[in-house]
Amino acid sequence: MTSMKPIDRRSVLRAGLLVAGGAALSACGDGGRRPAFIAPGGEQVRKAEAARRHAGGAVRDFRLAPVEGPVDLGGRTVRTWTYGQRLPGAEIRVKAGEVIRARVSNRLPAGTTVHWHGLALHNDADGVPGVTQPDIRAGGEFTYEFAVPHPGTYWFHPHSGTQLDRGLYAPLIVEDPKEPLSYDAEWVVVLDDWLDGVTGNPDQVLAELKRGMGMGGHHSNMPGMDMGGPSETPEPGSSGMGGHMLMGARSELLGGDAGDVRYPYFLVNGRIAEEPETFRAKPGDRVRIRLINAAGDTAFRVALGGHRMTVTHADGFPVRPVDTDALLLGMGERYDVVVTVESGAFPLTALAEGKNATARALLRTSGAAAAPAAGVRPGELRREIVGYGDLQPADSARLKRRRPDRTVRLELTGGMMKYDWAINGRKYDPEDLYPVRSGERVRLSFVNRTMMWHPMHLHGHTFAVAPTGVRKDTAIVLANRSLDVDFDADNPGRWMIHCHNVYHAESGMMALLGYQV
Ligand code: C2O
Ligand code: CU
Repeated sequence: MTSMKPIDRRSVLRAGLLVAGGAALSACGDGGRRPAFIAPGGEQVRKAEAARRHAGGAVRDFRLAPVEGPVDLGGRTVRTWTYGQRLPGAEIRVKAGEVIRARVSNRLPAGTTVHWHGLALHNDADGVPGVTQPDIRAGGEFTYEFAVPHPGTYWFHPHSGTQLDRGLYAPLIVEDPKEPLSYDAEWVVVLDDWLDGVTGNPDQVLAELKRGMGMGGHHSNMPGMDMGGPSETPEPGSSGMGGHMLMGARSELLGGDAGDVRYPYFLVNGRIAEEPETFRAKPGDRVRIRLINAAGDTAFRVALGGHRMTVTHADGFPVRPVDTDALLLGMGERYDVVVTVESGAFPLTALAEGKNATARALLRTSGAAAAPAAGVRPGELRREIVGYGDLQPADSARLKRRRPDRTVRLELTGGMMKYDWAINGRKYDPEDLYPVRSGERVRLSFVNRTMMWHPMHLHGHTFAVAPTGVRKDTAIVLANRSLDVDFDADNPGRWMIHCHNVYHAESGMMALLGYQV
């Protein structure tokens, strides 16, 4: 050890947690060996997939056409990128145990991939460019085929650059062939923050943010003065003028800064609040609502006016039912709720947390009732909001009690000043992987050293959030707080852990876990 060069010493000081990830074993300066990681298309990955395939699991075919073109947000047409010129893209719906075969024909002017958020699928279908596959080039085709083991509410989106903050997202619903819940109707609700084709595009936003605060950025408002909001919507043609950096957006629920980006619109199912989607049911119906936050930089606080909601699932996995007035969803998070609907017309309102704006859809069970005003904020938004600590996993979803075999400490670092978001002070590097081994119980210990919250997402697994063990794949880590999540390493491959704020992720707040050979 005494003959180590400084570079080797530094890697030892990283406590052996992070190691270079070449495909082959490589010798260290001290004669030790760094672990090798299994390849995304390797033997173990194929075996794990074979174990997921059931005889009789039908293959379902889907076609995805990422395309550039106009989309109507409700009286406001924008040019953007979507799946099949629909916003959200057409839902994919299958049953657990079936196989999804999705042929992607990329008609975008750029390379893309599709990531199937929350699914425990085989690693080389995970859609991470440069890790599990190359980008599907402009004009190219690629077919994803994978078995879907778990029922639940999922979604899909690209994993290339800032494309998620365009219109490229759609729900993926996996029905339970033995569904234990009974309900009369189902409503899929996708939340989003929108600027593409209005004030610029997401690449321009990232470039602007990367110039950093105090670096002569365009935006001169003082912290605390600027809450964003639709009143400041620039007219079309002002694209790329800057002014996207949002400062002073505070949220008590999120424990600090709420977001980095100013959006002119917030959408529910692709519609602005003035022209909402209307969902119809009969008074007394039990309606299952599947909520998905597909935003780039916005948490939403959601409530259905005049109703309490029973939370039944978090990120697709069942919880012990618990009643609440409102829910908070970070980017990438999903909740399923069941409501027994009253007679009338009610707003399903999504408050852009800390950004002083709302999006909504309408629930109508009576033709006679007047529609609530576009900006109305139901009182439920300010009442009870269940958090992770109030959610217990259903017995079927509870991980067995077990001590972690390994703890991976992930400090969330960086800030707005230099826009240097990172994990353990290191910008994402696909050659650096945190090792785990098949069969281990792994603890991810998130320690947030920043003044902002981060919705941290792990690919390919659903972890248990301490202390209750509620199962999730994306969890909010509050500003200056810590969060432990445990999972069983039962899906070999190279898997991302990242912040689901697309601008944080793209500026470096991503890392890889690698299963050792
Ligand atoms: Cu929904 Cu890696 O993300
Ligand atoms: Cu973040």
